[in-house]
Amino acid sequence: RSMIVLGISGSLRAQSSNTRLLASIGSMMPAGTEFRMHHGLANLPHFSPDLDGDEAQVDGAVREWREELRASDACVICTPEYARGVPGSLKNALDWSVSSGEFMNMPTAVLSASPHADGGSTALHSLTLTLQMMSAAIPEKATMAVPFISKIIAADGSVTDTDISSSLRDMVTALTQAVPE
Ligand code: FNR
Repeated sequence: RSMIVLGISGSLRAQSSNTRLLASIGSMMPAGTEFRMHHGLANLPHFSPDLDGDEAQVDGAVREWREELRASDACVICTPEYARGVPGSLKNALDWSVSSGEFMNMPTAVLSASPHADGGSTALHSLTLTLQMMSAAIPEKATMAVPFISKIIAADGSVTDTDISSSLRDMVTALTQAVPE
């Protein structure tokens, strides 16, 4: 079967620049790779250990989130920075995957994008710590804070900065090569 890469945006905003960037990365996938966009972060209940458990015990949205991750060979996460942190909806989704372990050894590319000069690097750092704790496999070249996002992404979602788009292509290569044969 073809390799499946799951895109997860940390922004629920309809016109999100992170979701656009993610779609742009999705369009760079090599032939034989299926890129899927996750859409369910807002459907997940607030994480509580009291609600956590195996497939028979958890909420249906949690079951779907875990199944989507298990069906994927790799992930790309693109997130905004909210008040110097990871948006709550994304962190909540990740917390739902701690006990069940879907990110263990999952090749995962991690990006933040922001209109500001540092590209949301504090959120990127925090997100990286979370994923490392969950034993995700983050390739060396597959992590990037993208600054001035509003200037480098066109309305059609294409990345207009050639240095950035070339780094994104390197990132896609590093990610797909990290998937075991
Ligand atoms: C922001 N923004 C922001 N940007 C940043 O670089 N560091 C930050 O700490 C914050 N904090 C923050 C809090 C809240 C509540 C909002 C709504 C926004 C600005 C943010 O980067 C900008 O809105 C992006 O466009 C959000 O990403 P999406 O939705 O375009 O993907």
